[in-house]
Amino acid sequence: MFAVHLMAFYFTKLKEDQIKKVDRFLYHMRLSDETLLDIMARFQAEMQKGLGKDTNPTASVKMLPTFVRAIPDGSENGEFLSLDLGGSKFRVLKVQVSEEGKRNVQMESQFYPTPNEIIRGNGTELFEYVADCLADFMKTKELMQKKLPLGLTFSFPCKQTKLEEGILLSWTKKFKARGVQGTDVVSSLTNAMKRHQDLDVDILALVNDTVGTMMTCAYDDPYCEVGVIIGTGTNACYMEDMSNIDLVEGDEGRMCVNTEWGAFGDDGALEDIRTEFDRELDLGSLNPGKQLFEKMISGLYLGELVRLILLKMAKAGLLFGGEKSSALHIKGKIETRHVAAMERYKEGLANTREILTDLGLEPSDADCIAVQHVCTIVSFRSANLCAAALAAILTRLRENKKLVRLRTTVGVDGTLYKIHPQYPKRLHKVVRKLVPNCDVRFLLSESGSTKGAAMVTAVASRLQAQRKQIDKVLALFRLTQEQLVGIRNKMRVEFEYGLKKDTHPLATVKMLPTYVCGMPDGTEKGKFLALDLGGTNFRVLLVKIRSGRRSVRMYNKIFAIPLEIMQGTGEEVTAGRGFTLQGASLPSTPSSARPVRLLLSLSLQLFDHIVQCIADFLDYMGLKGAQLPLGFTFSFPCRQASIDKGTLIEWTKGFKATDCEGEDVVDMLREAIKRRNEFDLDIVAVVNDTVGTMMTCGYEDSNCEVGLIAGTGSNMCYMEEMRNIELVEGDEGKMCINTEWGGFGDNGCLDDIHTQYDKEVDEGSLNPGKQRYEKMTSGMYLGEIVRQILIDLTKQGLLFRGQISERLRTRGIFETKFLSQIESDRLALLQVRRILQQLGLDSTCEDSIVVKEVCGAVSRRAAQLYGAGLAAIVEKRREDQGLEHMRITVGVDGTLYKLHPHFSRILRETVKELAPQCDVMFMLSEDGSGKGAALITAVAKRLQQAQREH
Ligand code: BG6
Ligand code: BG6
Ligand code: GLC
Ligand code: GLC
Repeated sequence: MFAVHLMAFYFTKLKEDQIKKVDRFLYHMRLSDETLLDIMARFQAEMQKGLGKDTNPTASVKMLPTFVRAIPDGSENGEFLSLDLGGSKFRVLKVQVSEEGKRNVQMESQFYPTPNEIIRGNGTELFEYVADCLADFMKTKELMQKKLPLGLTFSFPCKQTKLEEGILLSWTKKFKARGVQGTDVVSSLTNAMKRHQDLDVDILALVNDTVGTMMTCAYDDPYCEVGVIIGTGTNACYMEDMSNIDLVEGDEGRMCVNTEWGAFGDDGALEDIRTEFDRELDLGSLNPGKQLFEKMISGLYLGELVRLILLKMAKAGLLFGGEKSSALHIKGKIETRHVAAMERYKEGLANTREILTDLGLEPSDADCIAVQHVCTIVSFRSANLCAAALAAILTRLRENKKLVRLRTTVGVDGTLYKIHPQYPKRLHKVVRKLVPNCDVRFLLSESGSTKGAAMVTAVASRLQAQRKQIDKVLALFRLTQEQLVGIRNKMRVEFEYGLKKDTHPLATVKMLPTYVCGMPDGTEKGKFLALDLGGTNFRVLLVKIRSGRRSVRMYNKIFAIPLEIMQGTGEEVTAGRGFTLQGASLPSTPSSARPVRLLLSLSLQLFDHIVQCIADFLDYMGLKGAQLPLGFTFSFPCRQASIDKGTLIEWTKGFKATDCEGEDVVDMLREAIKRRNEFDLDIVAVVNDTVGTMMTCGYEDSNCEVGLIAGTGSNMCYMEEMRNIELVEGDEGKMCINTEWGGFGDNGCLDDIHTQYDKEVDEGSLNPGKQRYEKMTSGMYLGEIVRQILIDLTKQGLLFRGQISERLRTRGIFETKFLSQIESDRLALLQVRRILQQLGLDSTCEDSIVVKEVCGAVSRRAAQLYGAGLAAIVEKRREDQGLEHMRITVGVDGTLYKLHPHFSRILRETVKELAPQCDVMFMLSEDGSGKGAALITAVAKRLQQAQREH
């Protein structure tokens, strides 16, 4: 009995002594709670640094955005291939997710070896090897004929800008293949797969193993929002709020961030806790100076740390009687599995003896106890450090959610965590101690990270299918060079039709003579009134032209034209509204006191309103009763017989007072002035806005012989040789032709590029079947085309969560200015989203990207179509003049041209491509067409007087 007690006493004493000895020796490796809290705080600061745009470049903890935005919701399904490369084992898998609506995952897998000559050889060979293994797997599983999406779990730090791309930042752990760092792993593997002609695989997602682990666990537990690997290497990922991720646009929802915490301390932040053993181990590693935190924690290094410690202790005579075996000198001789075995509860000491003996040592009981304790200290330190960093992440999650208490799940994987007998328990305990306000569940990922990778791939695959649908729609708006040349040539044909007497009556591009025959020469002078009707704004202007110095002063006022007057919805008006009705043929007014509804001519309403505005303006300018010559910019197609006569052929754009059509607009205006009987105005000229614009610019640059409007409507005028204008007598000189090219295509010649969306816009317009080209190019319609596309994409479930809102059903919500804002390059996605929200469209960031793309496709086509039309006219002018090369200036106006960020550039580029022999200069009309109209009036007035004097 005494002997037993003595033995027990002896053993306890022995154990105590050994433990004390080792504790003393490894004092520096034992971390107090205080130190752990300090490390936790340091890691919190590191995370912040990695997330900030400015601080990220110098941060050692890279906090890499993964483009994985949501945890699985159970709707994932399909069959996928998966590769799992970078952990202790390389696997190829086939994963079947959720068959027949059940939350169910089936996997078939095969391991392949990763010999050192492959993982540390040439990069190309590494990827070829991986592709070979994949091909082998597919052959074995008879999958060769299937086209399957693939998710790649690649457990190294990769910079991603999208899910299907990953630039390797640096190799870690055991890998060091040449020529891979700084390149995209996905494209390298895709290239390597090309060697197998029968392999048809699309890599849709690249995920880190932490991400795969988190997703695997989240499939079973939706609370899982952190993934941790404690295996060959160590790392963690977690769901971060988008608003905190500076490196990725957008602020809604969350995105998984791969912390790459293994690199914590690479900037010296952990020097105070690193020991001489850590430094020695680092020097002998494949990546000295790198992954310093990982080297204190993970499976690849723990055994080696133990070996270095034992060697040092033996050298100091503290172990094995000072004897060292040659095996103990060999790097890698002690592995993590040995450490785990030595730390087993019962058989630990026996295992230790066996392992040490295998190393050629002759350990005493005391040695075994000491060595076992060395293992404990090393692995405990590892768990402590992991716990500190994990506690930092959990705290961050709790703070992001502004919770007092956080309930969360951490998905974990990795051989060290799985095979070490005490590791999980120690880790859990320390984490709970460090973050007492978090209820943490640790969930072991039983099926590795590939199940999660398959979830990510499933989502990616659904998005890819959706993307294809979107691309299909956008492709309808993409015009090839060949198509553009065709359009240019067709436009040219239409010009000739319009100019020729025989074909003119049927021509859709009307080529209207304007009776404007020359450019201003600088001698024009006087005070003129101008009206500018038909663009975004209706203006009345006073233009003072001084001769000689080419100086013009203008005063103007914008007036609104009520919609009911513009669109003829107000034919029924109540009598006594203040309209002056003299001269109008009205039904006799019943002498009743009640308001009576009268049928009032639309033309009367419109022109009376215009005269009312003139009266207001004259009043405002202190010119009441003045007698001034007036130039009328009237931006609609008019058949002219002289400069002061213009019969409205038909309304375009937003006007529809039908009884004006076929009437002379000058007469209608004169009548209205007479009806008011307040002032007298001499209407000298009626000009189209294109003509006014050409004149405005021509006053500055005599080479300006084309006027272009890219605004509410679309049109162009140019100076044509009289001999080509069959509708007007005389062959001398030139005359400006208002092409009214908006009607191009009304004969069906553009049907091949006319999309279903164009048709819908046309059908919903005030003039169906008319102005086809205008409806594909001008500001009034581009937004409508966009809206039609968005409605269709929404119906297809590709936008706005498939919900067509009332707003989206509202005609005209996308004005040119919004289109222009949305497409601005300077605008962040968030701002696009805000614009959409202002428009009443509740969009996500993804929606905003699509909306922006749709706007881009529509406005690009418009600019190209304009370019094709313009190329047709400049080429015609060049050929007519028999020039090899021609320089010409185009005067331009209109909100689309002025406000849109890309329109003018694309227009210029297209003209250059389609009319390479013409040097086309674009001159923006800063002053609007009113100035030009006044100049035309001045010239006409001079001619009038000259005629009278004769
Ligand atoms: C596996 C995962 O279970 O664990 C891998 O499928 C991961 O993706 C690995 O890399 C990590 O552990 P270890 O110990 O193999 O590096
Ligand atoms: C203005 C001109 O600057 O531009 C108008 O003065 C013209 O005559 C208009 O109609 C065209 O642009 P928008 O975008 O207003 O239709
Ligand atoms: C290394 C890698 C990291 C990976 C981890 C676990 O730290 O850099 O990407 O997640 O090992 O495998
Ligand atoms: C419409 C009109 C045209 C005008 C153009 C630009 O196309 O028909 O006359 O020039 O819009 O405002």
